[in-house]
Amino acid sequence: MTFPLERPARLAVFASGRGSNLRALAAAFPPGDPFASVVLVLGNRRDAGALSLAEAYGVPARAVPFGGDRDRFEREADALLRTFGVDLVCLAGFMRVLSPAFTARYAGRILNIHPSLLPLFPGLHAQRQALSAGVRESGCTVHFVDAGVDTGEAVVQRRVPVLPGDTEEGLAERILQEEHRAYPEAVRRVLMGQVHSGVGAHA
Ligand code: GRF
Repeated sequence: MTFPLERPARLAVFASGRGSNLRALAAAFPPGDPFASVVLVLGNRRDAGALSLAEAYGVPARAVPFGGDRDRFEREADALLRTFGVDLVCLAGFMRVLSPAFTARYAGRILNIHPSLLPLFPGLHAQRQALSAGVRESGCTVHFVDAGVDTGEAVVQRRVPVLPGDTEEGLAERILQEEHRAYPEAVRRVLMGQVHSGVGAHA
């Protein structure tokens, strides 16, 4: 599949938690939008705030528990993505690592958002890592997902200052405001064909 498509793009959001990035994406790409719509929200926890938020936006939401069985999760996720005709997957606070086979199948069609200026501070507690390192700015990165953790090619980065006396929560909140701008911007860039992931982007 190659972007741009000659029809509205169909987006899925995978989320595990409160879903504020889902809210930003659902608001930017609502049902019936001529450019792109979020058509499916997949939560790996039944209590994910993202699932009820999806319903509020009129987007179908499915809970697919991860449990200890990643293969089963990925089979079910893959079946849902096909059923809903999804073109682009957006991981938004999805706290699980997908298998190399899954990320290869969706190469160039799966994005993640991370609260640091990658390649700095991948993995958990990125804001805490930034504060411990004493950097004077941080931010967020939307990137293509590959087989690594937070390693894929960056699509959009937005920067924020780290202020004297910042707490982890304060910095996280400042970054989050930029995440909500960065994710829709990155989705637009990918769907317009302005940026591709190196390997497999045209598969
Ligand atoms: C965000 O900080 C995102 O960068 C990280 O997880 C958090 C999810 O927040 N991957 P939300 O559920 O979108 O509010």
